[in-house]
Amino acid sequence: WWADENSKGTAEASAVIEASEALRSSDIPVGFPTETVYGLGADATRSAAVQGIYKAKKRPSDNPLIIHVDSIEMINRLLNPTTTTTTPSTKIPAIYEPLISRFWPGPLTILLPNPPGSLLAKEVTANLPTFGVRMPSSAFARLLIHVTDRPLAAPSANASTKPSPTTAQHVYHDLKGRINLILDGGACGVGVESTVVDGLSSPPAILRPGGIGIEEIRACPGWENVQVGYHDSALQHGKEAPRAPGMKYRHYSPKARVILFEAGSDLPSITGRVKQDLLGTGFSTETRRKIGIVRTRKWPVTIALTPDAELAQSAESQSQEVLAEDESNGVSAVRIREVSVLLEEGIGATVYDIDLGSEAEAIARGLFAALRSLDELNVDAIYIEGIRDDEGDLAAAVMNRIRKAAEVSVAI
Ligand code: TXA
Ligand code: MG
Repeated sequence: WWADENSKGTAEASAVIEASEALRSSDIPVGFPTETVYGLGADATRSAAVQGIYKAKKRPSDNPLIIHVDSIEMINRLLNPTTTTTTPSTKIPAIYEPLISRFWPGPLTILLPNPPGSLLAKEVTANLPTFGVRMPSSAFARLLIHVTDRPLAAPSANASTKPSPTTAQHVYHDLKGRINLILDGGACGVGVESTVVDGLSSPPAILRPGGIGIEEIRACPGWENVQVGYHDSALQHGKEAPRAPGMKYRHYSPKARVILFEAGSDLPSITGRVKQDLLGTGFSTETRRKIGIVRTRKWPVTIALTPDAELAQSAESQSQEVLAEDESNGVSAVRIREVSVLLEEGIGATVYDIDLGSEAEAIARGLFAALRSLDELNVDAIYIEGIRDDEGDLAAAVMNRIRKAAEVSVAI
C-alpha cells in the first residue's frame, strides 16, 4: 500500500513520514501500532528522546525499554558500535538462532549484551548490562522503523499501571496532552505483549510470558530446559528481585477492583461471592451498584443475568447491548451486554457482561479492551473467569496479566 494511489494509502504514507520526522527531531514520543500492543516510541540512540518516554508514561526509570528493529543488520550495528565493515565481529549468540528463524518477525523479545561504547541511550537499559530487542511482525511498525532509520525504544503506550493499549483510542485516552502523534493501525492482532527470553543465562529463561508460547520455545534446539523466570502474583513483597525489572510493578490494573476466579471455580461459589459483594459494604448505597463480568470458557450466560435462582425471578429487564468499542476495524471490539437486576427490595444493580469466547487467542485479543471498557462504565468491581494457563500458547500470558490485575484471586 506504500505506493498505492488510493487516498488511504497516501494518508498512511504521509502519516508514517510525519511520525518518523517527529521521532528524528523531537523529544516527545510517538504512539504506534505493533502486533502485540501499541508502543510509545522514541529514537533509542538519543537520551533526551528516551527520557521523553519515561516522562509521558510516568514510568519508573529503573524499568528498561524494549528496542524495536526492522532488520538483523540493525542489531549487528548495535552489537558492533565501533565497526564500520559489514561483517560484524560480535554476532547474536547462537542460542537465539532457532528462535529468530522461527518467531521473527513476531512477538518475541531477546536479551543481548550491551557492548562498551553502546549506541543506545543509557536510559534505555536502566543500567543493566543487557538490552531487550525484538523485530515486530506489524508491517506498519517495521515501515516506521525503516523510514526513521533508527532503532526505536518503545514500552507499551499506556499510562504506567494501566492495562496495555490495543487500539489508538486507548493510547489517546491515557496519554492525550502528553504526546503529539499516534499512528492508528487499528486494533492489535495479538493483544498481549511479547514473550521476553534470556538466552544469555544457563539454563535459558522466560522472563515474561507473552505472544509466543512456552511450549513453542521449549521445542527449539537449546531451549529444551528453559526455566520460568517470572511470577504471576501482583507484587513480589520484597522477596527475590524479578529478572525482568518491569515484572515487579503493579500492572494492567483498571480503576475497579478485579476479582479473579481461577479456572474450575464452581458456579454456586461464584454467584454467592458476587451477591455478597454487591450487598456488602464495599459498595456505595447511594448509587446503583455496577459490576462487570468477563466470561471465557465455562460460565453460562446466566451468571451475568441472574447470579442465582432468586435473582432470576427478580430481574428487572432483559439484556441490552450497550457498546462495541473501537469502530476502526473491530478486531478487539468487545461486546458488552447491560442487564439490570434487583438484589433486594430497593437495591438494584447493573451488570455489564462481556464474553471473550473460549479460544486463548481471542481472550488475549480482547482482554485489555474489556478491562478498559468496564472502567469507562465506572463499575465498582470486575469478576473474571480464569482459564487454565497450560491450555493454548497464549494462555500463560493471559493468566499472567489477569493475575497481575487482580486484587483478589479465588483459587479452586
Ligand atoms: O510487545 C511488547 O513487548 C510491547 C510492544 C510495544 O513491543 N512492549 C512492551 O514494553 O511490552 P514494556 O516496556 O511495557 O515491557 C518491557 C518488559 C519489562 O518487563 C522490562 O522489565 C523487560 O521487558 N525488559 C526490557 N529490557 C530488559 C533487560 N535488559 N533485561 C530484563 N528485562 C528487560
Ligand atoms: Mg508495559
